[in-house]
Amino acid sequence: MLHHFKGKDFLKLADFTPEEVAYFVDTAIELKRKRASGELFEPLRGKSFAMIFEKLSTRTRVSFQAGAAQLGAQTFYMSPDQMQTSRGEPIRDTARVIDRYCDGLFIRTFGQEVVEEFAQYMRNPVINALTNETHPCQGLCDLMTIKEKKGAYKGLKIGYLGDIWNVCHSLMMGAAMMGMDFYAAQPNDTYQPNADQLATAQQWAELSGAKIVFTKDLEEVAGGADVIYGNTWHSMATTNPEQRVVDFAPYQVNMRVIEMAKPDVIYMHCLPGTRGEDMVDEVIESKHCVFWDQGENRMHTEKAVLVLTTL
Ligand code: CP
Ligand code: NVA
Repeated sequence: MLHHFKGKDFLKLADFTPEEVAYFVDTAIELKRKRASGELFEPLRGKSFAMIFEKLSTRTRVSFQAGAAQLGAQTFYMSPDQMQTSRGEPIRDTARVIDRYCDGLFIRTFGQEVVEEFAQYMRNPVINALTNETHPCQGLCDLMTIKEKKGAYKGLKIGYLGDIWNVCHSLMMGAAMMGMDFYAAQPNDTYQPNADQLATAQQWAELSGAKIVFTKDLEEVAGGADVIYGNTWHSMATTNPEQRVVDFAPYQVNMRVIEMAKPDVIYMHCLPGTRGEDMVDEVIESKHCVFWDQGENRMHTEKAVLVLTTL
């Protein structure tokens, strides 16, 4: 292995260098190849990982459990309402005990400070399965999918249409680190990226030469894009769903948007989305849509995170 991250947490992409992020992606591509060729690869036999999900999940939870099983590890799902934290036991006590039983923790929660507190009190890796601020496992999978479909990152343009929230932040960070221009639709000034996330992404963008643009202008976002990335207009833990439907309505990813982009544009989405709002069947069923390969890549990238932070 070129890089060793044993015991290191996976809380956000910006905790790693672009070379290290690229190494996670390359490892995931190799793990995907191994699985496709039927090669048994169980380096985590005998290891176990705790999982806490304070929000709903289909892809993240299933891909992590399936991926861990393929690597030979066990996973334990702990329902937040069945844990003593729901009666007030502090995170720092919970974390120190889980750390004695398990080889790592996979956690989906609200504030980024929660995953950071678990990480502070655990020696074994804590992996962020989504917070309000970031979704680094999704970001890694998105980079892998772009690399598979486009061959390289530098100079590509991503047009992002959807909620300016966790997935937007992690994609923006990945794009800035890898030298891809990131344009996001911003219906009006009430929708702003997280200031810290934006500031960090801008620092990476300066180094890589990438542009980060938030604009109301749909043509500016989608025009000439190599990747159109759609997302829901109302994430878990956001407010005002009715107002959001009104504000984001001009930014639905339909064929008109796809036609503004490059002819070989790929259409990505973290899922879930809402048909008739942010996404439509005509584009989902078109040759541009890569949702299912992207969804599959969640598993390979999470396996890469498990292998590289555990071994
Ligand atoms: N993309 C994603 O994280 O999906 P889930 O909410 O289903 O895990
Ligand atoms: N932005 C979404 C991502 C879901 C995978 C949310 O937090 O609801």
